[in-house]
Amino acid sequence: MSVVVGVSGGIAAYKAVGVVRGLVLRGHEVHVVPTEAALRFVGAPTWEATSRNPVHTSVFDDVAEVRHVALGQRADLIVVAPATAHTLAKIAHGLSDDLLGTTILASTAPLVVAPAMHTEMWRNPATVANVDLLRSRGVTVVGPDDGPLTGGDVGPGRLSEPDDIVAAALARVTGPAGLDASPAAVPGARHEEVRVGDLDGLRVVVSAGGTREPLDPVRFVGNRSSGKQGAALALAAADRGARVTVVGAALDGAVRQGLVARGDVELVDVGTALELEAALAEHAPQADVVVMAAAVADYRPVSVADGKIRKDDSGDELTVRLVRTPDVLAGLVARRPVGQVVVGFAAETARDRDDLLELGRAKQRRKGADLLVLNRVGWTTGFGADDTAVVVIDADGDVVSEHAGSKSAVAGVVWDAVASHRSARDGRTSSPPRPQGVSTGAGA
Ligand code: CTP
Repeated sequence: MSVVVGVSGGIAAYKAVGVVRGLVLRGHEVHVVPTEAALRFVGAPTWEATSRNPVHTSVFDDVAEVRHVALGQRADLIVVAPATAHTLAKIAHGLSDDLLGTTILASTAPLVVAPAMHTEMWRNPATVANVDLLRSRGVTVVGPDDGPLTGGDVGPGRLSEPDDIVAAALARVTGPAGLDASPAAVPGARHEEVRVGDLDGLRVVVSAGGTREPLDPVRFVGNRSSGKQGAALALAAADRGARVTVVGAALDGAVRQGLVARGDVELVDVGTALELEAALAEHAPQADVVVMAAAVADYRPVSVADGKIRKDDSGDELTVRLVRTPDVLAGLVARRPVGQVVVGFAAETARDRDDLLELGRAKQRRKGADLLVLNRVGWTTGFGADDTAVVVIDADGDVVSEHAGSKSAVAGVVWDAVASHRSARDGRTSSPPRPQGVSTGAGA
């Protein structure tokens, strides 16, 4: 992938060397575009040595090549680290008085900025407004982190760690842990293709991962869910303007890191089905949309041993008694506030589409969600894989969409279905909107 790393003039410019190195080591073609001020902190030879490419700052270098257009058009991703208050303001307002400004304007690649400045500058209403404007246009903002700053003061304003910036930047293009082809941010996907803002201001809660039910301090009953689909849903919603909380059950490490590095998604870690239920009881009531992508254990051990279960004590056979866990999704549907949309997932091993639909429709009647996303899981499909195939049905069991592809692409399809559901409902009802999909819902 071709990545432009813009570096603006702050003391944190030295940390951007780690960002460039991190991208190069992952095999990306990196072009560094420092501002003149950045070169006062870290010189061109350092950027050239780490990026293995020549460095320019002026639009007047190699004019015949029209460098800013060439760099901008070729880029699959632009990362600005550090982004000073001044550079954020310039990007927000489309100012282009240097090579970095013109490159960004000439590009439609996903843009990731990592701000670094003193706390007062970060909190200044001008910076706050500029950052809001950038976010509303689909720009990913990583950090800043909280901590000691160069002047001896402490607060938000530190440049995020280079590894976190690299992870967030790549997640913007490929999804967490290498998910490919987010419709919001595939390499070469352009801003105009991104459905930025159609979930603007909505509060979204997504459950992700798979719960683990302990048997003893070191063992659990679990499932193979990685959390990739839930994370892809969360990132896609954030890209489209939602405020997102993820209730993550035993997320795969890289998936979790991708969410954390992203910076604008709240993450609540849980372990068991009961913990997941409690976290959702706290966060779901305020949400406009709740998506239950987590694979929740249906049973948990009746008792949890205080110490490790030992073979010497158990003999050749061990019987574990399990008890049902609550159906969290059905509970959410039963208690949902007026207007909230609840989306469930159905993991089925049925191979045949008709069987999948039949099982899905039965599950829909039991659960009562507004939309149910049916997906096939098996030894090699579904859990942990990067690709998946889904059929989305509504409360009446009618198919509203179908898609096979990356989990990021599927996330886009699910949010499209949510957005259509909300607009159809709002068109049907007078304000305030009523909950839909309960006619064949819980208890039916
Ligand atoms: N779910 C839940 N609580 C449970 C089990 C499942 O909230 N105890 C949710 C899942 O998050 C998912 C939906 O219910 O959104 C369907 O999960 P799935 O595992 O497909 O179905 P189950 O309800 O577990 O039914 P079965 O195992 O019989 O297929």
